[in-house]
Amino acid sequence: MKIVVLTGAGISAESGVPTFRDADGLWEGHRVEDVATPEAYDHQPTAVHRFYDARRAALHAVEPNPAHLALARLEASLGDDLLVVTQNIDDLHERGGATRVLHMHGELRSALCRGCGARIEWLGDLVDFPPCPRCGVSELRPDVVWFGEIPYEMDRILVALERADLFVSIGTSGAVYPAAGFVQYAADHGARTLELNLVPSDGTHLFHEARHGSASVLVPEWVDSLLG
Ligand code: APR
Repeated sequence: MKIVVLTGAGISAESGVPTFRDADGLWEGHRVEDVATPEAYDHQPTAVHRFYDARRAALHAVEPNPAHLALARLEASLGDDLLVVTQNIDDLHERGGATRVLHMHGELRSALCRGCGARIEWLGDLVDFPPCPRCGVSELRPDVVWFGEIPYEMDRILVALERADLFVSIGTSGAVYPAAGFVQYAADHGARTLELNLVPSDGTHLFHEARHGSASVLVPEWVDSLLG
């Protein structure tokens, strides 16, 4: 059975990574257009760097939770038949042991050079405008996909959705496209669809089945039921 899992901020919430649209979410404390658009970066790169530098540094203080670990367990059993597509820019899937993960919105622990286009593993800050290790130009930006930019890996994701027997959406509000459209796309291509989320998402009616509760409980339960 081929499975595509889409994850959002909700899967990392119990690890202590803030979500975006919940009451204490990142978009309550920041205006999207001030920190998460190419225009924001053009106008105030220092403020944008500070925002992402703080989030990158905060990764040191968090650990994967039982939901990340359960998906890694599922991958160990299914191999290439499981693909995790994440909107998250944290590295908790990988630290939980998963290896087949596509970061469609980029990664905090990566920098993108606007000079040469290189994507470079980056663990420190960017606020001091360090030179690119490849080309030497001081044009490193966060390697994250901002509003108005095209997500990474869309070709591979769409092919996987077309082939999937099961599509599972975990911890995402269904507010941001194209990810919010994956459920319909997968269903149109024959997949069964399941939502695992704290509350009904914006698109909950699009799923064949929805279970509501915390990811750290629902995801291990679901994985256990599959692995028997
Ligand atoms: N377990 C399961 N779900 C949870 C939990 C939890 N412990 N805590 C919160 N949630 C759910 C919330 O109810 C909400 O529906 O996770 C969802 C998080 O939604 P958002 O904050 O909107 O995050 P996400 O869907 O990942 O956002 C999509 O928007 O701005 C962007 O680029 C950013 O990738 C992000 C995209």
